[in-house]
Order: sequence, then C-alpha cells, then structure tokens
Amino acid sequence: MPRLSPDTPFIHDGCTITDSQFGTYCEIGAGSRIAHSSVDDYSYCDRYADIANASIGKFSNIASHVRIGATDHPLETASCHHFLYRSEYYWDDAEADDAFFARRKARRAHIGHDTWIGHAAMIKPGITLGHGVVVASGAVVTKDVAPYTIVAGNPARPLRDRQPPEIAERMIRLAWWDWPHDALRAALDDFRSLSAGAFLDRYER
Ligand SMILES: CC(C)(COP(=O)(O)OP(=O)(O)OC[C@H]1O[C@@H](n2cnc3c(N)ncnc32)[C@H](O)[C@@H]1OP(=O)(O)O)[C@@H](O)C(=O)NCCC(=O)NCCS
Repeated sequence: MPRLSPDTPFIHDGCTITDSQFGTYCEIGAGSRIAHSSVDDYSYCDRYADIANASIGKFSNIASHVRIGATDHPLETASCHHFLYRSEYYWDDAEADDAFFARRKARRAHIGHDTWIGHAAMIKPGITLGHGVVVASGAVVTKDVAPYTIVAGNPARPLRDRQPPEIAERMIRLAWWDWPHDALRAALDDFRSLSAGAFLDRYER
C-alpha cells in the first residue's frame, strides 16, 4: 500500500493544525505548525515547518524548519509587545484585538505549483512565489519571485533561472500539476528521464 492517501493528509506526530485545508496525497512532517492555510494536492513539508496564512499550490516541496508567514508585531505603537493584542492573557477584563489579528491573516503568502523551499528558508507574509520557484536553504524571501527562478540569500536575490522563460511559459501552459493521478503515473518514466524541454515536446498538444 502507498503511504499517502487521496482522502486524508498524513500528519506526523506532534503537529498543531489550525483552520487549514489539505488536498490529496499531502504530508505534514513531525512537529509542524500549520495555521489558517491551505495545502493543495501532493504538497508536503518536512519536520518543524511553520506555515501561517498561506496558500500552498500543488506539488510543493517544503523542507524542514521552513517558516512561511511569520507574523509581525506593531511598530507604530508605544510598545510592540503582544499584550497590546493578546490582552486577555494578562487581564480578566481585556479582550483580544480581533481587528489586529484579522489584518495579519489578510496578508497571505501564495506559493506556486512545483516549488521547492529549502531548509530553514523564511518567506515573509504576503509574498507570492511563482510556479516552479526554488528557494535556497536559509534564504529570507522579502519580495515576490517570478516563476521558475532560483533565489538565495538574505535578503533573497535571484541566483539563476531554474528554466529559461520560454520553457517556464510552456510548462505553465502545460500545467501537468492538474493532470489526474493516473495520467501522472502513466508519464512517470518520462518525468524521470526527459529534460523539461523534451517532456514539453512530447506532451504539448
Ligand atoms: C539553491 C540550490 C538549489 C542551488 O543548487 P546549485 O545550483 O547546485 O548550487 P551551487 O552549489 O552550484 O551554487 C551556485 C551558487 O549559489 C550559491 N548558493 C548555493 N546555495 C546557496 C544558499 N543556500 N544560500 C546562498 N547561496 C547559495 C553558491 O555559493 C554559488 O555561488 P557562486 O556562483 O557565487 O559561487 C541549493 O544550493 C539549495 O539551497 N538547495 C536546498 C537544499 C535543501 O534545503 N534541501 C532540504 C531537503 S528538501
């Protein structure tokens, strides 16, 4: 039996999952925290990923200790301490600042299909990674990243194209990530053995 299922995400021990949705064949590594996020088909994260307020596309590969959507504290107020909005932690007669939490939740990160986010990378709230993007280990991504670009460093800068723009555009048009499970299986040998260009030549209609 395969270990991943089309019906139920494989959530390893010690995860905290809040208000989040999962597609088919998803896997969440041990100790991860996923909040207010969606994780689309075939995407997975390794251990101790921390993902908040994010929409993760299909076939995303998220390494251990990645953080997406680390939330910000207020900078304009007299204090940046969370007693300002987690006020009920400290006083019986004070309530949480719901409007503050709503503003934070609205800054969603969007992670494209077939992306790879390397070990311990950090993606700021509200960032969009295009389809096919690769983020190097340890990178801090502060700006949107164009499709099929590899970024690295702090702050992350383009290292090189993963695929040239012409191949990237054709791959996005092909959208193999939307193929049915059986079609992916039928093309598995070609996924393994062909270059991206040769794969496109074979499957474009
Ligand atoms: C980004 C990455 C894919 C690039 O791979 P690559 O093309 O084989 O990279 P190279 O080793 O040839 O390095 C190319 C350049 O990028 C730099 N570089 C590579 N990885 C880097 C990183 N994580 N941060 C900053 N710079 C990096 C190299 O120093 C080199 O710079 P130079 O050209 O000035 O010498 C790879 O380095 C990486 O970070 N992979 C993620 C691994 C990971 O986290 N795996 C977890 C399991 S999923």
